[in-house]
Amino acid sequence: MPTPNPTIFVIFGITGDLAWRKLIPALFSLYMAHRLPEKFVLIGVGRSDDDDEQLRGHLESGIRQFYHQPFSAQDWQGFAQSIRYQKADITDAGAYQQLSATLQQIEQTWQTQAERIFYMATPPFMFGRIASLLGEAGLSADRTHARLVVEKPIGHDLASALELNQTLIQHFEESQIFRIDHYLGKETVQNIMAFRFANPMFEPIWNRRYVDHVTITVAEELGVGNRAGYYEHAGALRDMVQNHLIQLFCLVAMEPPVSFEADEIRNKKADVLHAVRPIPAEHAGEFSVRGQYGPGWIKGEEVPAYREEAGVAPESNTETYAAIKLFVDNWRWQDVPFYLRTGKRLAETVSEVSIRFRAVPHQAFPVSGKMGRHPDRLVMCIQPDEGIVLKFYAKQPGPEMHLKPVTMHFSYQEEFKRPSPEAYETLLWDIMLKDQTLFMRADQVEAAWRILMPVLEEWANTEPDDFPNYGSGTWGPEEAEGLISADGRYWLLPTKLEGGQVQSCDLSALRAKTNASEAQQRALVQAGTSSEKQTEEQAEYPEAQAEKQEVMTS
Ligand code: BG6
Repeated sequence: MPTPNPTIFVIFGITGDLAWRKLIPALFSLYMAHRLPEKFVLIGVGRSDDDDEQLRGHLESGIRQFYHQPFSAQDWQGFAQSIRYQKADITDAGAYQQLSATLQQIEQTWQTQAERIFYMATPPFMFGRIASLLGEAGLSADRTHARLVVEKPIGHDLASALELNQTLIQHFEESQIFRIDHYLGKETVQNIMAFRFANPMFEPIWNRRYVDHVTITVAEELGVGNRAGYYEHAGALRDMVQNHLIQLFCLVAMEPPVSFEADEIRNKKADVLHAVRPIPAEHAGEFSVRGQYGPGWIKGEEVPAYREEAGVAPESNTETYAAIKLFVDNWRWQDVPFYLRTGKRLAETVSEVSIRFRAVPHQAFPVSGKMGRHPDRLVMCIQPDEGIVLKFYAKQPGPEMHLKPVTMHFSYQEEFKRPSPEAYETLLWDIMLKDQTLFMRADQVEAAWRILMPVLEEWANTEPDDFPNYGSGTWGPEEAEGLISADGRYWLLPTKLEGGQVQSCDLSALRAKTNASEAQQRALVQAGTSSEKQTEEQAEYPEAQAEKQEVMTS
């Protein structure tokens, strides 16, 4: 494994949530795995009056909560001694002179030029200012050693993203800028490429000839939590679709890369975005659905509506659910729809990519074979279960030719028997090694905004008159069913790989899991959308059901 060069890791916004929950636990995990260089210093920049010890104490409490492996007091001490605090007003140019002097002093002690990483873990409106002040203080000048890390969201829309990227590029070269989308650090997301391009049997069927449509689901049980200040201005489309879901979409739709070079991969992903059929502004409503959660039940707990959450306006029109339909205008994907959906306070926390294959060209089996039209699908389970599931028909044992949908699966847990590294661990390591493969380039971010602008504009110009339009603990608004069923297709319940068993997430399983009382169950059913009212069989293979019905009627 390569070892990073001596590194000074500067985090602006060290007392914030991101540093506490994600960055420090990830760096500590790298330390525990002996993957940090021997010469390593972390400088936390913040506004509070803390000193080194106070900061270390605060960060240690985060480690105790978010680092899930055993460690000793000595381990923590070993890591903590590399942490320093610098109190500074990060909008003040003087702070950057001071920082520059500190960096020089550390490098003099080490007698070597260190990698200098500037991580902006601050509210997004400060990104441009910090980058400019770093540049003006000469801290971006060393193109080889200075790096800037930018968290999403990159802009609020296309215009602001262009403006921010222009500011960044005035001071840093693109090769110095690491735009983070933490989904790209997830093992299962990276595995999409391994699965597609390391195995010869899938690529030949990965196209419009065999694939009927693709669905990408990122569902969360969590509500807005304490992030209303940010979320009220973001909403699900900006918070999740513009980055995480679009990145998943690119990995599924991209052409095979010639090499694993960062820019080669990023070029192939950018090609997908450039090939997306523009959503016509006047028909944006036919390509998108938004929703906002009302009250409901999650895992046996009653939860409030979005509009009742702390910091949310009582009349808020921010969407907590978004679904869109995209087409890729190229030879591979012409007319194959990609349906993307995400939401908060949904029935289960589950993310997956589901590739649904076309029906066989001719059904030779008798009607009694019970064959539906196209149940075959390949599901890439991103989280919380990590793996791949293939669903297809097999003959049921017995004298008659009865067919039954069956599954084959690969589970990370069963196969590798150790937890996957946290996304941030992978990403911070790559930043130290200056590998940009898993980071977003300016043109990709801008292209993603360009795709979504007609929907964002439509939503900004028309007030939703039905919010809240889905109950917490359901699979989202009824209209989302319409988005896909208008094309004669269906959202299927996401697939779960619990304890090596393939299951679909259905409401009855959820009820059983929660031991919900009868009253709670009634509430769940009342809040339920049409898909939840279906039986499992209907939800799994609706077309088979419809066909059976047709046959019976005729
Ligand atoms: C973040 C979003 O980028 O991703 C959050 O801002 C969301 O709203 C989170 O909850 C989901 O990440 P993960 O890794 O928990 O799926």
